[in-house]
Amino acid sequence: MQHTPDNTGSSIPPGTVCLEDYQRHAQKILPHDVYEYLASGCADDLTLARNRSAFDELNIHPRILTDCSNGNTSCRLLGQRMRHPILLGPVAHQALIHDEAELATAEAASLMEACMVASTLSSVPMESIAAKLPGQKWFQLYFHRDRDFTLELVRRAEAAGFNALVVTVDAPVNGARNRIQRAGFSLPPSVVEANLLDQPAAVQQSLSTGQSVIFQGLMSEAPTWRDIQWLRGHTSMPILVKGVMHPADATKCIAEGLQGVVVSNHGGRCLDTVPASIEMVASIRAAVGEEFPVLLDGGVRRGTDVFKALALGADAVLIGRPQAFALAVAGALGVAHMVKLLRDELEICMALSGCPTLDTIGPSALSGHR
Ligand code: FNR
Ligand code: LAC
Repeated sequence: MQHTPDNTGSSIPPGTVCLEDYQRHAQKILPHDVYEYLASGCADDLTLARNRSAFDELNIHPRILTDCSNGNTSCRLLGQRMRHPILLGPVAHQALIHDEAELATAEAASLMEACMVASTLSSVPMESIAAKLPGQKWFQLYFHRDRDFTLELVRRAEAAGFNALVVTVDAPVNGARNRIQRAGFSLPPSVVEANLLDQPAAVQQSLSTGQSVIFQGLMSEAPTWRDIQWLRGHTSMPILVKGVMHPADATKCIAEGLQGVVVSNHGGRCLDTVPASIEMVASIRAAVGEEFPVLLDGGVRRGTDVFKALALGADAVLIGRPQAFALAVAGALGVAHMVKLLRDELEICMALSGCPTLDTIGPSALSGHR
């Protein structure tokens, strides 16, 4: 099976006018197993599908004759001004997708003034990614089983100038990724986890027969609230927790002194049959109050989806798979174009619904909401 991205492109195919077009083109040029790794959810892909259908079920309720002449998409996040509320979420192993991997994505982020969230599992070192990002950049942290090594990652992120940590907590074990299993995907040796090259050797587990590998093995090293507390005590970087799906967990994040949450089900890749993230955002916003930063990812493919997420209480959204597909098709240019398409669609939606600025987008902009 050919894994290396030697046939990935650097020009935008004619007729690429929305994010789904990138997915269609990517499917044609990527090896089947790599495409399945990127595109799939888990188990029966029910949450993957719901992340989309729940957006489609919401209707925008436009107001007419509003003055939108001074409209703009700018917002504040963690005290920083951003040109628009569209972030590039963490997507691991980008050398699978394009020769320039995360460096191309970072170039696009910089071009589009989008905050990039660099994955712990990037194919190039976080320092090289940060060097390409003069603006906002956040580091996504997976806890390593060795907490000293986890702290080394945090220190490197601080030194590289990342502005926040996004701690992903919804994937302590891999989901039942049946499509990936069927496709026979495994990470080729050429795709390294560049941040983890000097990680300590694995502690040998000697599990007696009959013990659950999941609970006694992997989970014995998974982070808990105690580790979040520990992390907060060891860094002054703002910390957001990614993978929050319950209002009570969101309020617990406030109680723990954290700086924000990302409402996410990991793009439907971890536990199937959980709700769509867009279905949870209103109750999470209600639980945390108006000021606490709430971001959302999962299924955002249109400017109208960004609008709907904001209407129900999100401050900003993160994009997952579409950046991978755009990267496969046209490298940095593709990812920049993908963000531009989304931002243009958001502006169109704001103008046509009578919302000149992001703070005018509220629940009443959606049918059946007040
Ligand atoms: C991810 N996601 C992810 N999340 C994270 O915190 N760290 C990571 O390294 C990765 N890696 C990753 C790889 C691939 C191929 C995918 C598809 C996803 C999850 C990602 O950040 C995000 O939560 C979802 O992808 C959002 O859903 P959409 O936009 O893909 O529908
Ligand atoms: C994934 C991991 C890397 O979703 O977060 O594939």
